[in-house]
Formats: sequence, C-alpha cells, structure tokens
Amino acid sequence: MSGEACGCGRILGRHRARGVWLTIRTACRRDRDALIRFYESLSLETIYTRFFAIVRYFDPYVDSLLSNARAVVVVAEAPDGRIVGVAEAVGDERGYAESGIAVLEEFQGQGVGTALGKAILEASRMCGFKKLYGYIMVDNRAAYRLAMKFGARVVGRYEALLRIEFDLEASRGPRPRGP
Ligand SMILES: CC(C)(COP(=O)(O)OP(=O)(O)OC[C@H]1O[C@@H](n2cnc3c(N)ncnc32)[C@H](O)[C@@H]1OP(=O)(O)O)[C@@H](O)C(=O)NCCC(=O)NCCS
Repeated sequence: MSGEACGCGRILGRHRARGVWLTIRTACRRDRDALIRFYESLSLETIYTRFFAIVRYFDPYVDSLLSNARAVVVVAEAPDGRIVGVAEAVGDERGYAESGIAVLEEFQGQGVGTALGKAILEASRMCGFKKLYGYIMVDNRAAYRLAMKFGARVVGRYEALLRIEFDLEASRGPRPRGP
C-alpha cells in the first residue's frame, strides 16, 4: 500500500490558467521529484502560510506523503509536466483526514485553488474519508474564502490558526458559489 492507494493518475478535471490547460489529477510515486521541485519553488511566504513554519527541504515530507497508505495527493499539472498546485489529505484510522493546499504564486488568484479544492474533496470521498479538516492562519483571506465556498465550518481557533472542517458524509458534493 502507498499514497497511490486511492488511485494514481486519476484525472479529476482540467482548468485553464495563465493561458495553459492544467490537468487536475491524483499524484503517483513517479511525481516525487516534480512534487519536491514544486514545494522548493514556493516563496517563503507561501511556505509559511501553508506549513506555519519555514521549511527548506521537502524530500522527507514528499516521501512520507507518497508512502502513506492513508494519503491522497492531487496536483495541478501544466502541459510541460510542471506541478503548479497541490492539495493533500492525510487520513487517520477514524477516517478523518488533515488537508493542506498550496498554489505557485504566479498561478494564484486564477481558480487553481478552487479546482484543487473540488478535486481533493472528490478524491477524499473516493478514499472513504468521513471528514476533512485543516488549519489556516486567521488573516489568510484566500484560504478562508476557498474553504467557505465549499461549505467548510470553522470549529476552533488556536492562537493565530483557525481549524476548519468539511463533513464529507453530510454533504454529498462540493457547493461552490458563483458561476
Ligand atoms: C489559498 C490558495 C491555495 C488559494 O489558491 P488560488 O488558486 O489563489 O485560489 P482561487 O483563485 O481559486 O481563489 C479562491 C478564492 O479565494 C479568493 N482569493 C484569491 N486570492 C485572494 C486574496 N489574495 N485575497 C482575498 N481573496 C482571495 C478568490 O476570489 C476566490 O474566492 P471567490 O471564488 O469567492 O471569488 C493560495 O492562495 C495559496 O497557495 N496560498 C498559500 C498556501 C495557503 O495559504 N494554504 C492554505 C493553508 S493549508
């Protein structure tokens, strides 16, 4: 078993941003190096808002994700193979999964996070997770808006972090607002 257990290379959508069509799909072990390059190309600000710490070396993180039987990873991949956004869900024995998301700065604000959010919810349901939760900084307006448009609830606050949850059993599908 591995992080590919919930389906490797499963196409979950396409999204156009910066003049190219991105493929939204589940990641495979062969994506290891591209995933590491993705994380290492993020700005320190994006790394901090994603991980709440400055992380410089992502090999251990990516290896643990890809080898985890209870993890599902969704990527936004450009036609040249470059990964420009990633959303993950790492489950536990209860079926609760912790989620995180990041988009390369030059692709932010163009709907990539929304496409990945929809895909990670779909992939999490396919994996049988009951609940998805995550932490966002209280002043992270983009992440807050993204979570709310998919029906998340704020269930706690820990200093500068909000805990948000999606009940995957109650809501049978994402509910994005707008067109
Ligand atoms: C959060 C993040 C993933 C959103 O990705 P994105 O591709 O920019 O998201 P989208 O373009 O789909 O926008 C999602 C929503 O946020 C809003 N938004 C985007 N950037 C925004 C900003 N700077 N300020 C306020 N709202 C913003 C959009 O308007 C959209 O809401 P709407 O559909 O109601 O209009 C991205 O900003 C990011 O990688 N941030 C750093 C990592 C992070 O914060 N992760 C979350 C914690 S795990």
